[in-house]
Amino acid sequence: MAIFNFDQPIDRRNSDSEKWHKYTGSDIIPLWIADMDFCSPPAIIEALQQRVAYGVFGYGYPPQGLISAFISRMKMLYQWDIKPEWLVFLPGLVSGLNIAIRSLTKSNESSLCPFPIYPPFMKSAHMANRKQVSIPVNLANNRWLLNLATAEANMDGSEKLLMLCNPLNPGGTVFNRDELIEQLEFAKRHNLYICSDEIHCELLLDKHAKHIPIASLNEDAALRTVTLMAPSKTFNIAGLGASIAVIPNAILRQRFINCRTGIVPSVDILAYVAAEAAYLHCDGWLQQLLAYLRDNHQFVLQRINAIPGLKMAPLAATYLAWIDASELPVNNPHTFFEEAGVGLSAGVDFGNHNFIRLNFGCRRTLLTEALTRMEKAVAALC
Ligand SMILES: Cc1ncc(COP(=O)(O)O)c(C=O)c1O
Repeated sequence: MAIFNFDQPIDRRNSDSEKWHKYTGSDIIPLWIADMDFCSPPAIIEALQQRVAYGVFGYGYPPQGLISAFISRMKMLYQWDIKPEWLVFLPGLVSGLNIAIRSLTKSNESSLCPFPIYPPFMKSAHMANRKQVSIPVNLANNRWLLNLATAEANMDGSEKLLMLCNPLNPGGTVFNRDELIEQLEFAKRHNLYICSDEIHCELLLDKHAKHIPIASLNEDAALRTVTLMAPSKTFNIAGLGASIAVIPNAILRQRFINCRTGIVPSVDILAYVAAEAAYLHCDGWLQQLLAYLRDNHQFVLQRINAIPGLKMAPLAATYLAWIDASELPVNNPHTFFEEAGVGLSAGVDFGNHNFIRLNFGCRRTLLTEALTRMEKAVAALC
């Protein structure tokens, strides 16, 4: 079996990377935006090389091989039966969040979404001029959970869409069957469509956690849900956007397609190739990646929780640590750590300025250096 070396140093400066470009010319370790510093799986690189060698790059069309690979994968991983006609391909998942808001709610209707949350959830409502009700996310037994009862008390009847993120970013919760049923019952009770962002579903750190697509629960769930998936986070091909909206309900699907037409372009031909190779040939790489990320996760958990003023709950999924800095005696934890040479995501963008998000999808030596800088900066406060 091929062994992949996730410790291999790769210089990403001057590689037109958004993550690394931000701190060009300064000694700040970028641990913010969600892509990993690892090379993509060799099978993806080979598939791309073959496609490039072919030399013709006209408009693309969803490859049959990708459609069957995705359908078989959903069946294998989740016992979820999907029909090819349910699939809508998009050049990115965030465009799917925006299309869902615009196609599933009218201008006087609103949506609900967890809070704090990955910022495009909130921006998609804001940009469409739609009201949004927050579902508070609270820590219970070391897991970040949705408080639907509080959200319910703030609803005014204009809600039409429940936006979900599973696994949850930030927080890394993988919702179990009972929790998903509760979310579905909530949607039924209030007659809501569901848009479920499941982009992190294959990045499971907790070996006991099992991802369940909410649409796979039953027929009712399938008919009210737009599920958004992509190989981009799992296989580190975020710059090759090929996302998939699974929409079993033909009426919702048509509304979704109408809304994207002429605005959201089709998927790049190379992105299709990368996505197909990812789903077909990269499971060995993924298993080794997960082993590496699990070790990074334990390392971050232990080091962060040993820093006075910082704490984090374990993640069940994702490589994005959600760190509570509310007891740190600084005004702005994001700028504080940036000045100490570590570029994290600012919690304020997700909805809580006392938090920071740390991307540990990088080699251990870099992570060690970043954590050491954080420890020293905090120690210097006393
Ligand atoms: C929950 C979630 N959804 C969507 C995305 C991004 O999707 P895309 O780059 O395909 O637009 C991210 C990236 O971090 C994410 O964490």
